Amino acid sequence: MTSPTASSKLRDWPVEARAAALGLDTASVDALHAGLTLDQANHMIENVIATYALPMGVAQHFVVNGREVLVPMVIEESSVVAACSFAAKLAKTTGGFTAGSSTPIMIGQIQVIDVPEFAAAQQRVTAATNELLHWLNAENPSTQSRHAKAVGLEVREVREVRSQKSEVRSANGDVEYGFLPTSFFVVHVLYDCGDAMGANLVNTACEALAPRIEQLTGGRVNLRILSNLSDRRMAWARCVIPARLLETTETGDGRRETGNDSVSRLPSPVSAIIEASLFAEWDPYRAATHNKGVMNGVDAVVLATGNDWRAVEAGAHAYAARDGHYTSLTRWRATAAGDLAGEIELPMAIGIVGGATRVHPAAQVALKLLGVQTARELAEIIACVGLAQNFAALRALATEGIQQGHMGLHARQIAVAAGAVGDAVERVAAQLVLEKNVRLERARQLIEENRG
Ligand code: MEV
Repeated sequence: MTSPTASSKLRDWPVEARAAALGLDTASVDALHAGLTLDQANHMIENVIATYALPMGVAQHFVVNGREVLVPMVIEESSVVAACSFAAKLAKTTGGFTAGSSTPIMIGQIQVIDVPEFAAAQQRVTAATNELLHWLNAENPSTQSRHAKAVGLEVREVREVRSQKSEVRSANGDVEYGFLPTSFFVVHVLYDCGDAMGANLVNTACEALAPRIEQLTGGRVNLRILSNLSDRRMAWARCVIPARLLETTETGDGRRETGNDSVSRLPSPVSAIIEASLFAEWDPYRAATHNKGVMNGVDAVVLATGNDWRAVEAGAHAYAARDGHYTSLTRWRATAAGDLAGEIELPMAIGIVGGATRVHPAAQVALKLLGVQTARELAEIIACVGLAQNFAALRALATEGIQQGHMGLHARQIAVAAGAVGDAVERVAAQLVLEKNVRLERARQLIEENRG
């Protein structure tokens, strides 16, 4: 059998043999199969009682900036890995994904209260910027790093949001509105995080700078913490899916009429996906679900590589609401030739050194499998996976519906839950789907009949 990267049939290999079949060395395969030890886990968090495993799958067919990439994904939801592989396979026919990223600038925030004169304080902080950056990078031991570097300070005035008055009512009565401040002096500490996620360093820097900021502003520092709206640390990707491949998808006929003047002249699955895109762009109720699908892909790679998926989630959703209107992270339109072009852009605060990325043995192997040399490269691949997952979801939703595709996988889960093992899982699942009766009871009957 040839390598599954070429054959595209990774699932045909026995599950124990797949990691080695992808070209991983024995030590990596062993590390993957052993997973996190109890001792390693015990050093990661408090009061450890066990480790908790999730499936790790590999999405295939990704070509990112001309390079073939195998994408490890950790996720409990069925269909996601298959959907990403399917989308990547279609995108590959036009050269795959083109992706990019910004310099990974992380923002740390220092909240200063009761600053007597805003403009004068701002001027003093600005004048001291070079000196403070030098102190962080070259003089203060706790903020010197070989991975990251402080590159700037900015001052912002954060004002009370009138529509969400900061009035607080306690259980015992009203808290006077007038006692609360109406604006804050906020210093942003900008870090080029290089290959690190950078959270620890940025937080340390904010805390270290606080006394100097108090001196310079005459105010009182309260919070000192990074911002998860990492909008200076962006990743983006684009792909084109030929309309002809949408007409002949593997899972459905995909054809339908649309009544929309502006897009009805396009091949119909293309127009249906564009209409789905517009729905998410315009409606926050739809955008939340649309972006959840994007994050199915994004989080799975973030998790596989030992990164902080809550940080990436927070950044993505805050960015989606940056204009005061929660909208989609992706956008689908037709090319001049009538094919489907998709784009994604989102903050991507991830690293390939430090944190759980270093500690978790499976995360190390995931990085090896991805073959990334820099955090930016990883960020770009993750953006591609988010876009791929979104395409697959919209294609299914805008054509045959999501449930048909889920049926087979759901049937396999039901077969396993009913006690099927080995080859019987596929046999029972296939029968359940054929009968359109994916129920536990029926699966049990089929298992009995198989035995008899
Ligand atoms: C389910 O996990 C994700 C979807 O709801 C995404 C979407 O609706 O676009 C299918």
